[in-house]
Amino acid sequence: MSARGLVLVVLAAGNGTRMVSATPKVMHQLAGRTLLGHVLATASSLDASGLYVVLRHQKELIGEYVWNNFPKAIQVEQDEIAGTGRAVEVSLAKIPAEFDGDVLVVSGDVPLMDTQTLNALVATHRASKSSATILTAMVQDPTGYGRIVRAKDGQVAKIVEQLDASDEELAIEEINAGVYVFDAKHLRQALSHLESHNAQGERYLTDVAALLVEDGHKVMAEIVADNWLVRGINDRAQLSEVAKELNSRICRAWQLSGVTILDPESTWIDVSVTIGQDAVIHPASSLRGLTAIGAGAEVGPSVVIENSVVQDMAKVGPFAYLRAGTDLGVGGKIGSFVETKNAKIGTGSKVPHLSYVGDAEIGEGSNIGAGTIFANYDGVEKHTSKIGSFVRTGSHNVFVAPITIGDGAYTAAGTVVRKDVAPGELGMNVAPQRSIADWVIAKRPGTKSAEAASKKKSK
Ligand code: UD1
Ligand code: CA
Repeated sequence: MSARGLVLVVLAAGNGTRMVSATPKVMHQLAGRTLLGHVLATASSLDASGLYVVLRHQKELIGEYVWNNFPKAIQVEQDEIAGTGRAVEVSLAKIPAEFDGDVLVVSGDVPLMDTQTLNALVATHRASKSSATILTAMVQDPTGYGRIVRAKDGQVAKIVEQLDASDEELAIEEINAGVYVFDAKHLRQALSHLESHNAQGERYLTDVAALLVEDGHKVMAEIVADNWLVRGINDRAQLSEVAKELNSRICRAWQLSGVTILDPESTWIDVSVTIGQDAVIHPASSLRGLTAIGAGAEVGPSVVIENSVVQDMAKVGPFAYLRAGTDLGVGGKIGSFVETKNAKIGTGSKVPHLSYVGDAEIGEGSNIGAGTIFANYDGVEKHTSKIGSFVRTGSHNVFVAPITIGDGAYTAAGTVVRKDVAPGELGMNVAPQRSIADWVIAKRPGTKSAEAASKKKSK
């Protein structure tokens, strides 16, 4: 390890105008995490003495998120002077004046940037003893990005923003990724000379490159190997492109670790999900939040699972919606058109068809009949239903919570269960059926039904 210090600055003060959103850009979701969350998670993994996050636009909202999820990050407020250069300047004001190591700057809207790339950039910067090292990318369509103008010797001469570039500069295919390492002392100096004579009237961090060169310092560029890592998100079209790429990487990683994913293109898996070996995920399924799928489990097609656990060898779907707090036991089943929420379903227990299971605890080996509703909400409060082990409930039951059904009990089809059923009892409250003879022939004469009934009678 080098003795040289490192601090990190994450830029997140911009307006994010191009998102056209009430939600700040860096708070938009990507694979179950905010854009800023992705960047801060990566930033937190580096060996740095300080992590600074610059905020301004909707700073209360973003600040609370940062405080709750990354409490070690130091929040810095940008003033009314706009620009990425100003954002770095206000952070430097918070960094101890005697600090003479390196400053790594990353953007809150470049979410796929990874730890290895950042560490490698810092290492290159130190090995070449540069004043600044800029991460760049070669792209076919550089529209919107700052262009890297290199001098004859290959060093960076300056960075030109899209709106300020000449036709010749616009044709440059090497772009600024918005990730930089600076020598802290040189950066402080250069920032104090920054002007805002540009199309946006902002203090651009990118202008630091030319200022350092003017002062006789060395500015280098390092081309990133994988362009996706530096994709910035300015609008929702870019957000969906990056989301698709990240999702395909997440699916591929699970496939390589032993999970069968039949159609990664229609399967969406958040970064925080875990999946066991030999699990099978069928198409059009979405696994969200802190969801854990066990080994050998089978999910889908067309299943949504949020913050839930599906234990080993269990089966879910097709067409099921597992909401937060569902825990399906080993070998259990949640079948088609079933919605669950805050429901613990024990080992081998099954809810196979057309049911709602909310605020329930079901033991092991039980079977819930088709079309059952757990009526957990009385309009004011939620209540729990407890179903024991090896229970068989009839089709089309309503469990009016709070309610307890004992081990080995049965309930009859069509029962509205309002009273507890003790172990081994049969619960039923169904009115006796009455059939009126020849009603159809008398009341619906001339219909196909009456005709069919008459034929049957005459035989
Ligand atoms: C910036 C770079 C551009 C680069 C691109 C890479 C500048 C002037 N341009 O352009 O060369 O190719 O990133 O993605 O730096 N921010 C602040 N305070 C501000 C303005 C912005 O903190 O006053 C933050 C934003 O929240 C964002 C980041 O800085 O996270 C970049 O700002 P953005 O406006 O997106 O810059 P780009 O136009 O993408
Ligand atoms: Ca951007």
